[in-house]
Amino acid sequence: MNNKTFVENYYISRKKGNSVKWQRGRKENCLPMWIADMDFKDDERVIKALQDFIAEGDYGYTNLPQDYYKVFCDWHERRNSVSYQPEWIRFTKGAVDAMYQVIYSLTEEKDGILIATPLYPPFKATIKECGRKVYESRMINNDGYFTFDYKDIERKFKTGKIRMFMLCSPHNPVGRVFKKGELEELFDLCQRYKVLICADEVHSDIIMPDQQFIPALSFKKYRNQIITITAASKSFSLAVFSHCHVIIPNKKLRDKFIAYQRHMHCGSVNAFNALPTYYNFKYGEEWLDSVNNVIYENYDYLREKLSPYFEMTTLEGSYLLFLNLGPYNKSDSAAKYLKEECQLLVNAGETFDKDCKDWVRINLATSPANIKKAVKALKKIVKD
Ligand SMILES: Cc1ncc(COP(=O)(O)O)c(C=O)c1O
Repeated sequence: MNNKTFVENYYISRKKGNSVKWQRGRKENCLPMWIADMDFKDDERVIKALQDFIAEGDYGYTNLPQDYYKVFCDWHERRNSVSYQPEWIRFTKGAVDAMYQVIYSLTEEKDGILIATPLYPPFKATIKECGRKVYESRMINNDGYFTFDYKDIERKFKTGKIRMFMLCSPHNPVGRVFKKGELEELFDLCQRYKVLICADEVHSDIIMPDQQFIPALSFKKYRNQIITITAASKSFSLAVFSHCHVIIPNKKLRDKFIAYQRHMHCGSVNAFNALPTYYNFKYGEEWLDSVNNVIYENYDYLREKLSPYFEMTTLEGSYLLFLNLGPYNKSDSAAKYLKEECQLLVNAGETFDKDCKDWVRINLATSPANIKKAVKALKKIVKD
């Protein structure tokens, strides 16, 4: 389906409902380009399958569809050439919930956890909430293209205080889809220093042209120390359903995780919440490819219009662009400045890294018309 047809058929105005994104936009009289969900409705076959479930009226205790694991594993095998075994898979209510449970069950209070910043703020917040110590390694920024600082990571590993590296891949907010070699170098260090890897891969289906997503668990030699968090919630904008997978091949680690879930009484899966994932993995592939194309077109347009003025990330994956207002920012927070001067709601750079107050994160999963409005608004501060 071409982009124009996709947008005509699937863009939804969320202005009137209870959308977190748009409600705040309404309240602040701004165009909302913050938070990570999409302004597109789901494929009609998925909607119909959900309607059929509702219409049936059987709302008793329910198992997952019998082929749930097959559909899930086939999706990952087909799209990213990674094989998962059904017994490795556990469920949580979301990716942040999964981070919380992984940290609690597989690390100790004295342990340090390393993250590569700038980074989606709940990583740091969750580590802290669990009472673990946060270590940060700032990524190297080469004109908007961010890479790991391996020397700094190794220096931190050498302290012997770090038990886990929390990886965001694709990376929010810097939009990187890490190359095989980059991950290998990182995982090699983790192996050498006996550091567990928790890979949050919730953006793994939003991949720009000419990029290939490499799942952490596709590296067999590091498998025993990797925990993957993955969901369809970003791919198909299913946040309301709170359904996420934690994949743990190492039986010892998995048993510990399961014991934690039993103890907290939080390991059972909600079969209703799992249905949109299941139906999208069955019917949503064309929709997903189309949405990726629309996001790329939005990125391409924004980049063409704004790159003469602003530094910005190279979007390889996710629909989140990190943009540096640089000298155009006349406030202690670029996000605040854009809200006041341009009626644009974005995520503040300083929430991803305290030194990124000139940066903002912009959500590109919307109509080209909204992107045009955002570009116009951003150009205003250049003219002023
Ligand atoms: C990398 C990453 N992990 C986790 C989440 C949150 O996921 P959930 O709503 O399932 O907790 C987000 C949301 O934007 C995200 O970007």
